[in-house]
Amino acid sequence: MHEFSHISKIKGELNLPGDKSISHRAVIFSSMARGKSVLTNLSDGADVKSTKNCFRQLGIEIKNEFDKVIINGKGIAGLSKPASALNADNSGTTARLISGLLIHQKFETTLIGDNSLSQRPMKRIITPLSAMGGRIEASDNFTLPLKYFPSNSLAPIDYQLPIASAQLKSAVLISGLHFEKNTTVVENTPSRNHTEFMLGLPIKEESGQKIIAVNSSFLPSPKEYFIPSDISSAAFFIVLTLLSRDGELLIKNITLNTTRTAFIEVLKKMGGDISIVNQKETSGEPYGDIFVKNSRLKNILIDTEIIPNIIDEIPILAVAGAFAEDDFIVSGASELRVKESDRIKTICNNLSSAGFDVEENDDGFKISGNIKNKKSHLKSFGDHRIAMSCAVLSMLNQSGGTVDDFECVEISNPLFLEQLGSIVYG
Ligand code: S3P
Repeated sequence: MHEFSHISKIKGELNLPGDKSISHRAVIFSSMARGKSVLTNLSDGADVKSTKNCFRQLGIEIKNEFDKVIINGKGIAGLSKPASALNADNSGTTARLISGLLIHQKFETTLIGDNSLSQRPMKRIITPLSAMGGRIEASDNFTLPLKYFPSNSLAPIDYQLPIASAQLKSAVLISGLHFEKNTTVVENTPSRNHTEFMLGLPIKEESGQKIIAVNSSFLPSPKEYFIPSDISSAAFFIVLTLLSRDGELLIKNITLNTTRTAFIEVLKKMGGDISIVNQKETSGEPYGDIFVKNSRLKNILIDTEIIPNIIDEIPILAVAGAFAEDDFIVSGASELRVKESDRIKTICNNLSSAGFDVEENDDGFKISGNIKNKKSHLKSFGDHRIAMSCAVLSMLNQSGGTVDDFECVEISNPLFLEQLGSIVYG
């Protein structure tokens, strides 16, 4: 459990860890490339450690040299049979992306995860990867552990994404890297596009759809990656600063990929004083500094089209919305139910225990009223983004509050408390 006091003043500058989504992909692509890649500002969170550990078990050398991570990739056919089951722990991105690679191996592999990951849906990747000829065995309800067997009948497919999921899209694209002929993935509603960006894949737009093509000519080469800082980790500090009585914060070198910045647009429309300065680019990924000042917020209508692009920030947007004028309403977000926790339930549970009026729906929720409990006692449910959202809520409460099982923040940002300590004054 961690206790947070009420805060009213924020001032300073933050450097955050590397973006989690880009970090996973940098580790995967460096391991698939043949030769030495050098990664700067890789996420130090537990999720990216899970991806590194899986590749170490598959025979890839990954080591730290000062502030860099060095990966000696062995090429697409260079992985070796792990001595034991691969463990993705809490990381959905690790489990789903690595599956696109494991169906192509000449050896059998088992993939396991922690309690939360073992309940998350894997049918979404099993369906297209089986259509590509992959041989995957899952438990009865299509969850982890998954077993992958060597297959002689692997082939590319043309796949229409049934849900807007970057993890699903990436699993199919990573598998598609193994064939000379094109695999295509058709996307109706855009989700984060780091896989396409980082591999340099061609994308056609036709009647409002994106058609992404991949084949073995796009196999990654070894290179130097600079990983911009994580915008989803920045979101907690942005909302805290906006809602403080007296706040000014500069967050440096944040990824500004437009499939990730939608929550900033939402907060700006709500009246948030947020500006982007010093914009640059690395391997096709835009990044820059974000400057935030305390503001008065008023809720707006959130378009369901942008839900996939704010999916990880909805917990902290709900906190912003709870303290803003008018009601905060989210709909079309049933994917929240299958994240690290059932985030519709865990957000509603916490806001309701802080004293807000909460209405839970199948695919969203509504928050109205005011905070009634002077001191809140909130629960992370072992979910890092719920833990940090609850921390912000507690700090905005008159007498502060507690958040149980706060250690789970290490999944994406082990240094959250230190970073907070460096910007809070009074
Ligand atoms: C991620 C995609 C999103 C997101 C997750 C990271 C990725 O999941 O919630 O935290 O790196 O591809 P879905 O693709 O399942 O929506």
